[in-house]
Amino acid sequence: MENNIDIDKKIDELIAELTLEEKIKLCSGASMWTTEEIKRLNIPAIVMSDGPHGLRYVVEINEFGATSNKKTTCFPTASALASSWNKELLYQVGETLAEEAKSLGVNIILGPGVNIKRSPLGGRNFEYFSEDPILTADLASCFVKGVQDQGVGTSLKHYVCNNQEYKRFSVNVEVAERALREIYLLAFERVVKEAEPWTVMAAYNRVNGTPATQNDYLLNQILRAEWGYQGLVISDWGAIHDRAAALKSGLDLEMPGPSRVNKEKIQMQLDKKELKEEILNQSVKRVLKTVFKSSPERITVDYDQHDKIAQTAAEESVVLLKNENKLLPLDFNNMSSITVIGEMAVNPRYQGNGSSKVTPYILADGLSEIKNSIPPAVELNYASGYNNDQNLESQIDEAIKKAVKSDYVIIFAGIPEKFESEGFDRKNINLPERQNKLIKAVAEVNKNLIVVLNNGSAVNISDWIDKVPAVLEGWLPGQAGAKAIVNVIKGKVNPSGKLAETFPLSLAHNPSYLNFPGVNEEVNYAEGIYVGYRYYEKKKIEPQFPFGHGLSYTEFEYTNLILDKEVWAEDEVEVEFDLKNVGKLAGKEVIQLYVSQNNPYYDRPEKELKKFKKVSLKPGESETIKFKLSYRDFAYFNPELKDWVVEEDEYKIIIASSVQDIRLSAAIKIKSKEIAHILSTDDPVLDWLAEPLGKKVLAEILSAEQMDYLENEENTYITERPLYRLDFLSDELVSQQEIEKIVLNYNMLRGDYYSNK
Ligand code: BGC
Repeated sequence: MENNIDIDKKIDELIAELTLEEKIKLCSGASMWTTEEIKRLNIPAIVMSDGPHGLRYVVEINEFGATSNKKTTCFPTASALASSWNKELLYQVGETLAEEAKSLGVNIILGPGVNIKRSPLGGRNFEYFSEDPILTADLASCFVKGVQDQGVGTSLKHYVCNNQEYKRFSVNVEVAERALREIYLLAFERVVKEAEPWTVMAAYNRVNGTPATQNDYLLNQILRAEWGYQGLVISDWGAIHDRAAALKSGLDLEMPGPSRVNKEKIQMQLDKKELKEEILNQSVKRVLKTVFKSSPERITVDYDQHDKIAQTAAEESVVLLKNENKLLPLDFNNMSSITVIGEMAVNPRYQGNGSSKVTPYILADGLSEIKNSIPPAVELNYASGYNNDQNLESQIDEAIKKAVKSDYVIIFAGIPEKFESEGFDRKNINLPERQNKLIKAVAEVNKNLIVVLNNGSAVNISDWIDKVPAVLEGWLPGQAGAKAIVNVIKGKVNPSGKLAETFPLSLAHNPSYLNFPGVNEEVNYAEGIYVGYRYYEKKKIEPQFPFGHGLSYTEFEYTNLILDKEVWAEDEVEVEFDLKNVGKLAGKEVIQLYVSQNNPYYDRPEKELKKFKKVSLKPGESETIKFKLSYRDFAYFNPELKDWVVEEDEYKIIIASSVQDIRLSAAIKIKSKEIAHILSTDDPVLDWLAEPLGKKVLAEILSAEQMDYLENEENTYITERPLYRLDFLSDELVSQQEIEKIVLNYNMLRGDYYSNK
C-alpha cells in the first residue's frame, strides 16, 4: 500500500490531468451505490452499501421499486446493540460487517447512525443508539474502528438533527447552540475525533434555517475547522438542495447519481466565476483520497460463524426489565408443560424497515428454539394469540385455554413493522391494543407468565406490567435474536443488557412532547439540553424504567470509591472502586459513571453520563475499576463564550447501576480559571457586581464611597437598573466617560483571560 505522501503526490498529479468535466463528474455518484470511474486515469469507482446492522447489498430493483438483496448476516439493530453497552462487541460487529463488505466488493458501509433519540416516536429510532450522546459516541466509535481497521470505510450519519421522519426531507430544526453542541453534535464530534470515519453523511433536514447539506457552519466551520475532519462529506440520498452552495459549504460528493442537472449547475457557477475551481479541486481530492484508501481485496466469509457473532451480540443486548420472585431463568428440565403465545414467536420481529433492511442469511424463531431446548417429556403448546396488530376473540380464548393448564407461559409481543419504520414516525408508544388485551387475559389465568418484547424503541407497558412477573426486552435482535432470547430464558446466558433510553410512563412525559414533530415545516427543540433522562431526572418525573436499567440473575456490590478531593480542571481525575459479584452465577455488570455539578451558573442536568464499562465476573470474583476523567467531562458548552467551559465548583462523581440506582458517590472540587461573562451597558449593575472581573473593574474606576453605595443592599432599586442609567441617577453618580471606561476595561481584561486559556 502506498503511504500518505505518495498518495497526496498521486492525487496532485491527477488533479493536474483531470478535465473540468471529469472533476465535476467525480463529485456525484455514477449510480445508486457507486461513484464515477475514470478509466483513462485508472481511477476506480467506490461501491457503497447500507448499513448499519447488516449489508443491504442490492442485486436487483424490480419495476415496483422492490429490491432483492444478497443474503447477509442481520445483526441486532443499533437500539439493541446500544443496550449491550459493550464496546468490544461493537468493534467485533464492525469487523464482521467489514468482512462481508469485502466479500461483496463493498468499500463503504453506510452507517453507523448516531442521531439522538429525541422522542420515542422517531420512526428510525431502531437505527439509532441512545438518548445519550456519550453512550452513542463511544459505541459508534468502536463500530467504526472495527469496520475501518479491515480497510473498509464507514459513513457517520445523518449529520445532524435528523431525529424524526415527519417531513424529513424538508423540516427545519430550530435548535439552540448549547443543545446542538451538548446533545446533537457531541456524538458526531467524539466519533470524528476518535475514529476518523472515512465519510460523514449530511442529513436531509435543515438546521437553524439552512439545509444540512449546504450548511457552512456545520460542515466547514465545525466539522472541518474545529474538529479537524479530513474525510469525505457525502449527501444523504437525494438530500442536495443547491449543488453549488453545497460544494462551497464543504459537501464533496452528491449521492446517488448521476445528476445531469446538478453537474450543469456546477459548470455554470464555475463559468460565472461564482464558484472557484479550487473549491471543486478540494472536493475531488477528498473523493480520490477515499478511492485510493479503498481496498479491492475480495475474501470469502463463513456465514455460520457470523451467525454465532450475531447471536452473541443479541445475547449481550437483551434487557431483563422485571423478574419478580426470580421467575427467570426457567428450568426446562423441571416442568411438565409450557405454552408459547404470539405470532412473533413463529414470525419474529427482528429488524427495522427501510434502507437498513437486510435479507438475512438464516433466521431463528422463538417457538423452534424453545422446542429444541425442552426435553421430550415436556408438553409444548402454541397459540398465535394475535396476527400482526389484530386478534380475534377466538385467538384469545385458545391462548387462555392452553395457558391455564400449563406450568409456564411465554408471550412474544411487540410493535409490528407497519407501526415502526423509516419514512414515518410512530403515533404512540403503546403496544397494539389487542396484544395488551391478550397479555392481561393470560395473566389472569397463569401467574408464571413471561413476556418477551420486540420493538425498536421505548414502549409503554404500564397497562399490564403489575400483572406480569417477568419481562424481557429483546429489541430488534437480528437473525439470531430468538436463540439469544431463549438462552436468556433458560439461564444459559445471564442477561446483561441495560436500557440505552428511558421508558416513560406516558408519552406526554417526554420532553419533546409539545414540539414533536412540529408544524409548518419547522420543529423547535424547545426542551434544549433536557433530552431523555436529563429531563426526567431534573423534573423528578418517575419513568416506567430509567435509563441504564437492566437486571441480572446475579448481584454486584460496589465498594471503596477513591477520588482526589481537589484538582485543576486541566488535570486528569482518577476514579477507582471495587466491583464484586456477590451472587451465585457468573454475570456481567454495566457500570455507569455520572457527573453532577453542585452550583452551576448556567442550569445543568442533575446527572450526565461520562464513562461506562461492562465487566464480567465469576461468582465471588471482584475487580478494581478505574476511570480517568478530563476537562470535557466536567465542561458544559457556554453559549456566550462559544466554548466548553469548566466552572470552579464542587462536583459529584456518581457510580451507578442505572441513572436511578446510585451505588457510590463522592465530591470533588474542581478549580478553574475565572469565567468572565459577556457584560454590556445594558446589563444591570447587580450583574456587574456579581461577576468577579466586573466588580474588579468597577472598583478600579469608582471611588470607595461609590462602591459602598452600590454594594449596599438598600440600594438595589438603583443597582437593578442597567449600567448606562448610573450617569443620571442620584446626581450623576457616575459620569458617562466612566461608564464607557468600565466597559472598555472589562472587555480588554476579558479578552486577555480568554486568549490565555
Ligand atoms: C437514508 C440513508 C441511507 C440511504 C441509502 C436514505 O434514504 O436516509 O440512511 O443510507 O438512503 O439507502
